[in-house]
Amino acid sequence: MRMYDIIHKKREGGELSEEEIRFFVQGYTQGEIPDYQVSALLMAIFFQGMTRRETGALTLEMANSGDRVDLSSIPGVKVDKHSTGGVGDKTSLILGPIAAACGVKIAKMSGRGLGHTGGTVDKLESIPGLRTAIPREEFFDIVRKTGLAIIGQSGNLCPADKKLYALRDVTATVESLPLIASSIMSKKIAAGADAILLDVKMGSGAFMKTLEDSRALAKEMVRIGEQVGRRTVALITDMDMPLGRNIGNALEVQEACQVLSGKGDHRLRALCLELAANMIYLGGQASEMASARVQVVDAVRSGQALEKLRQMVEAQGGDGSYIQHPEKFQVSPACVEVTAPAKGFITRLDAEECGLAAVELGAGRETKDSVIDAGAGIVLLKNKGDSVEQGEPIARLYAQTQELCQRGQERFLSALEVGSHAPDVGPMILERVEGE
Ligand code: URA
Repeated sequence: MRMYDIIHKKREGGELSEEEIRFFVQGYTQGEIPDYQVSALLMAIFFQGMTRRETGALTLEMANSGDRVDLSSIPGVKVDKHSTGGVGDKTSLILGPIAAACGVKIAKMSGRGLGHTGGTVDKLESIPGLRTAIPREEFFDIVRKTGLAIIGQSGNLCPADKKLYALRDVTATVESLPLIASSIMSKKIAAGADAILLDVKMGSGAFMKTLEDSRALAKEMVRIGEQVGRRTVALITDMDMPLGRNIGNALEVQEACQVLSGKGDHRLRALCLELAANMIYLGGQASEMASARVQVVDAVRSGQALEKLRQMVEAQGGDGSYIQHPEKFQVSPACVEVTAPAKGFITRLDAEECGLAAVELGAGRETKDSVIDAGAGIVLLKNKGDSVEQGEPIARLYAQTQELCQRGQERFLSALEVGSHAPDVGPMILERVEGE
């Protein structure tokens, strides 16, 4: 088999066989096929697409390229969740405890933030003492005892995806539906859960900008999940404006605690309650969504969900008193308040630009090696659709120095528009996609 022939076939719109897909994935992972040939193939895939058979084969080949986590020693249905990335997206810190309080088992491996999107591992590490690098057996033990653990990715999970994703990043081939679907699903399959909940983001802060594209991605990922025997549900959700009120690591844990206490931003709460209900449904704790929703509300109202987060934090070595008293989290010392330039309505608060403002403040990473400031970030006092008076505070920005605050403010201002008419603020949850 020759890589040249595989590139040529795809360039002409042909369908690659399983053997051809295995050949290039294995050859590239093992360093036998050079970047320039795989780059050419990725670009051919970008333009020609992939059939369902090809996308399924690529997913499995990447999932099998490294370790596969075996969760069978943990009793019960294990449910995983994945968000395609967002700004202010602290949902894993909220759903996990709610679903675990309802009996679902969650053994979750999460990532770190890069660019405008944050990562759950960085957020958790803002809790003093909390460990996210935990050996496999201890990780399983925590899930067996508390029902929930969230750690960083460990072991050699999907090395093929790691290499291919890095190459896509520098060859303008990230935004390809079959490549995104196979990349996400290969990692979920390798992580070993029985069922998968996908939060497919749509809007300015997301890969998918339109409902049509988001729906196609959601359907493709659900199909792949079902093809490999994992119950899979996807929700398509809004990411045109930041999710909730806080952006930044400690700030987001604080907000997660508020939602788990029955308070917090209504859009964030609505999203979390619906995602959590889907996790309970997928975990088999409810046979219908209506009863799953009732369980979710009870878990929050009774305080069991917040207590579950505290248990997880302590099991991972963290100081659980921060969960009971989230006001203990320290924000960074320098602060600037952004005020409304005119009376009117916030007609735009661009999620991606807000995420980049948080990076300027020190809350995120420009490169993989950047050091983040746990206390930096943005507290939104207003969001898209809210009315404002001239000079009224819209947001508080926190960083280590006033200079960083100024840089963050410049970026934040480019995310913001105030106009005289109230904008349409669409629903938080746009669609739900379930397998047949
Ligand atoms: N997230 C992933 O893990 N892979 C993609 O291709 C895009 C988003």
